[in-house]
Amino acid sequence: MQLISGTQVAEKVLAECKSDIAQLASLGLKPGLAVVLIGDDPASRAYVRSKDKKCRDLGLHSVKHELPASTTQQELLALVGQLNLDPTIHGILVQSPPPKHINEAAIVQAIDPAKDVDGFHPINVAKLALEDPTGFVPCTPLGCQRLLLEAGIETSGAHAVVVGRSMIVGKPMALLLMAKGKGGDATVTVTHSRTRDLASITRTADILIAAIGRPDFIRAEHVKEGAVVIDVGINRVDDLIAEKGYRLVGDVAFNEVAPKCAAITPVPGGVGPMTIAMLMANTLKACKQLNASR
Ligand code: GUN
Repeated sequence: MQLISGTQVAEKVLAECKSDIAQLASLGLKPGLAVVLIGDDPASRAYVRSKDKKCRDLGLHSVKHELPASTTQQELLALVGQLNLDPTIHGILVQSPPPKHINEAAIVQAIDPAKDVDGFHPINVAKLALEDPTGFVPCTPLGCQRLLLEAGIETSGAHAVVVGRSMIVGKPMALLLMAKGKGGDATVTVTHSRTRDLASITRTADILIAAIGRPDFIRAEHVKEGAVVIDVGINRVDDLIAEKGYRLVGDVAFNEVAPKCAAITPVPGGVGPMTIAMLMANTLKACKQLNASR
């Protein structure tokens, strides 16, 4: 069984970013990312902090907007409008999910698609479906694809089963895996909470992507012997003996699934670090593209 280390692959991606950043610096360019968080969800706060920190570590320009849960739609739209016009900002990310009174779709549509490093804007969703390389692909599925590539997993002709149909992971993951070319050319099945007899489908997967957001959901019975399993889940479960009072578990019951796998990603240290690394990579791409078009 091969343990696919997201920590190691993320380091490689970040090293590539570093050399790109040095090259951009020689042209007088400093890529900038603005991260917007509304409310005080602890998991979202932790993600936003680590995104901001990683930017600074790399020498990117990073601006963090932590807004109260009472922030109005109008105030948020005004901030996005301001960031769209800010020449020092190349990437804009509004942490999802926002509080209930915020219309997230309207916020996403207000972001300049050229700065939409999350790949959530309809223009970028369309570009992914169209296989247009100028678009932005959501960071988590992009990171999963990179993990498969770096681990030497052949996707061409493989049956990839995606569990979960979210706009952030499941749907773009399916589009990436079915796209033509390296890391694609797979036969893709998308399953979700309404799928009948899920295990009978996941058991046919050569590559299984678990993105349901339920702790330990994928069990040994869901997995074929020799499958490759990518665990996207980052679930906090109460743990009284853990220092923070919780621990992180994936969507895959690692201990019982891992022995059946040809390769599997751990949680933590799997997909998580890749999401942040791909965010950095997308921010550099935005900086380069914006500059070429100015
Ligand atoms: N919430 C969970 N993952 C993500 C992500 O990749 N981007 C944003 N904006 N919010 C998220």
